[in-house]
Amino acid sequence: FEEKPLAGKKVVITAGGTREPIDPVRYLTNKSSGKMGYALAEAARAAGATVTLVAATSRQVSPAIQVILVGDTREMLAAVQKEMATADVYIGAAAVSDFRVAEVADHKVKKHGDEHMILDLVQNPDILKTVGEAKKPRQVVVGFAAETENLVENAQAKLVKKHADLIVANNVLEEGAGFNKDTNKVTLVTADQEPIQVAAKLKTEVAEDIIALVADLLTS
Ligand code: C5P
Repeated sequence: FEEKPLAGKKVVITAGGTREPIDPVRYLTNKSSGKMGYALAEAARAAGATVTLVAATSRQVSPAIQVILVGDTREMLAAVQKEMATADVYIGAAAVSDFRVAEVADHKVKKHGDEHMILDLVQNPDILKTVGEAKKPRQVVVGFAAETENLVENAQAKLVKKHADLIVANNVLEEGAGFNKDTNKVTLVTADQEPIQVAAKLKTEVAEDIIALVADLLTS
């Protein structure tokens, strides 16, 4: 980015897969590598922004990027809400656990003779929706949608439901897209423009396209 379109802006990005504790030594998580969120952080930084990355997965990152490491969804939400008080942009690239264990055990859960073990789960807060609903007039909110069918329709529904300005949709069944890959193939869905299909390419390059569109949305 030669013109630094995000100079003077603060961007908050989430990355990685949240970990929901079961007991002191176990947790529930997902396959997220954090690569897309970290790539977005680097691209936003290259575009001149001040970047805070709220990450549930640790990876190497430029020292100019502030990293807040979190574990579970509620910790991620608390960190995000604090940062959004002074932010211009939110990008929710984390794979957030929709559920958490209702009662986390104080001690390691033991085998108890029964073949079955039942974990009682309760719904987690939706971070993107919470941020979208609390959005200030000049803030831009971006979410992701991992879909297996009806990509654009589902992304448009998510745009409305979560009060987002942009949904980055990817079909996770497609070759060259999704979890723990270096490449991604996405469709950028906004309220006012036709969906933009981005050809499969490196996540670092996809990140630059997303950041360029975010810069447009900030000025429109
Ligand atoms: O609703 P769904 O999980 O498909 O939406 C994905 C988007 O919502 C992602 O941007 C993800 O980070 C965000 N999300 C969230 N909190 C949740 C679930 C998803 O912020 N509890």
